[in-house]
Amino acid sequence: MMENNWKRYDFDCLSSTNDWALANSHLAEETAVVCVADCQTKGRGRRGREWISPQGNLYMSLLFNSSCLPTDMVYIASLSAAQALKIMVPDIPLQIKWPNDIMVDGQKIGGILIEKAANDAWVVGIGLNLCSSPLRKDVVYPANNLLSLGIKIYRDDFIEIYLQQWEKFLQLDFKSIKDLWLRFAYRLGENVVIKLGSSELSGKFIGIDEHGYLLLQQAQGVKVINTGEIMFS
Ligand code: BTN
Repeated sequence: MMENNWKRYDFDCLSSTNDWALANSHLAEETAVVCVADCQTKGRGRRGREWISPQGNLYMSLLFNSSCLPTDMVYIASLSAAQALKIMVPDIPLQIKWPNDIMVDGQKIGGILIEKAANDAWVVGIGLNLCSSPLRKDVVYPANNLLSLGIKIYRDDFIEIYLQQWEKFLQLDFKSIKDLWLRFAYRLGENVVIKLGSSELSGKFIGIDEHGYLLLQQAQGVKVINTGEIMFS
């Protein structure tokens, strides 16, 4: 049973679908909203990065009043994307880099930006490189796109399946969400370096705790990390 009836707004070009959703957060009082744009002129990524957004890729933001915890949302957002892609392309070697970068073969093909709007509403922005990807300066995780990996995905099919997955995962408790998410976890059980601003922590990525924090096994014990970026060891 669907919890939300999503009302969809389509645009040729927006500065950012997240910006549109934040500016229209009052709409969430009536219904859950999905905002889709063909391109963005000021697409935003996490950590203040730019999200280059030419035509042909997917740019969407969900806007809704949430009954679930922010942590659940972070994991549901990326799990829904991973699961939707798996349904569409069963043998895709898809992984999620904590907390919610969508990766194929060690290359980033999608990202998620979650923001709190006014009136207790949430905005979950999803960008998916369907047919093009920028040449990123940080070569640790180069970007790629599905088409160049030989995968053709239709944007609107993805959106439909994504929302179905979202509704399904919303019914689950955090432990179940976390267990499903861990099946996609990039570098789980491996030695990683976590970049925390200008400092770095090394250890083995051993899991996620009940709050959604990353667990890093170090010689001196398990370190609990709530933010940061996983790098190669
Ligand atoms: C990241 O990996 O840094 C997150 C990228 C999020 C990009 C999407 S595209 C749709 C929505 N609108 C934005 O401006 N950003 C998100």
